[in-house]
Amino acid sequence: MDNVCTTKIKPRIVGGTTSVHGEWPWQVTLHITSPVQGHLCGGSIIGNQWILTAAHCFSGVETSENLRVYGDIVNQSEINEDTAFFRVQEIIIHDQYKMAETGYDIALLKLESAMNYTDSQRPICLPSKGDRNVLYTECWVTGWGYTRPRGEIQNTLQKAKVPLVSNEECQTRYRKHKITNKMICAGYKEGGKDACKGDSGGPLSCKHSGVWHLVGITSWGEGCGQKERPGVYTNVAKYVDWILEKTQTA
Ligand code: ARG
Repeated sequence: MDNVCTTKIKPRIVGGTTSVHGEWPWQVTLHITSPVQGHLCGGSIIGNQWILTAAHCFSGVETSENLRVYGDIVNQSEINEDTAFFRVQEIIIHDQYKMAETGYDIALLKLESAMNYTDSQRPICLPSKGDRNVLYTECWVTGWGYTRPRGEIQNTLQKAKVPLVSNEECQTRYRKHKITNKMICAGYKEGGKDACKGDSGGPLSCKHSGVWHLVGITSWGEGCGQKERPGVYTNVAKYVDWILEKTQTA
């Protein structure tokens, strides 16, 4: 079965289109239950009890008891009190994280119970460590985030194809920031397609030799889909050792 949906639906993420069931089986929606339950951030399944997401998602989160991870979801409206979810046993935030714009925007969620994999709920491969040499030609950002800067969380999971941008070019677009090699940028010079608020923590998924790899974690950007303002992602290839360390000792 092909992973890419060829059905054209109305454009939306910013400038994206709606996804279908099983298209992004590693994408999860992370909900917070207090004061009311709702979508907080995206995340990616990387192991049967491990979700990779962004550290900045947890700035207002008091306890992991208020979190719920839902897999195998396309429409937020599928979620009701009877929908199965995973509880979070532990939130592991990178100890050098301060804020998204200065990097280390990465966190692991250890689930209380292991998930059973299905065709529509399964992990994505991590990139291999030295993946700078790999040319990723097909990258997609997905999420339930805003479709415009002052938008709202979307019901249906959105997707947009975005080209990777070199760090050199990305640095020229963000003169006031330091774009480190632990960040990776994606977007069109003319803008139009991008992640936005609510997509954070979710995947930038790139296909290479037929296999999808988790190349980035949605982290930050100036506005959404603005020209010459690419989206900035945590460069997962640079954190493979950190991920292995934390998932093997925790
Ligand atoms: N920080 C935002 C969030 O919390 C996502 C930022 C991504 N922005 C962008 N323009 N690529 O959901």
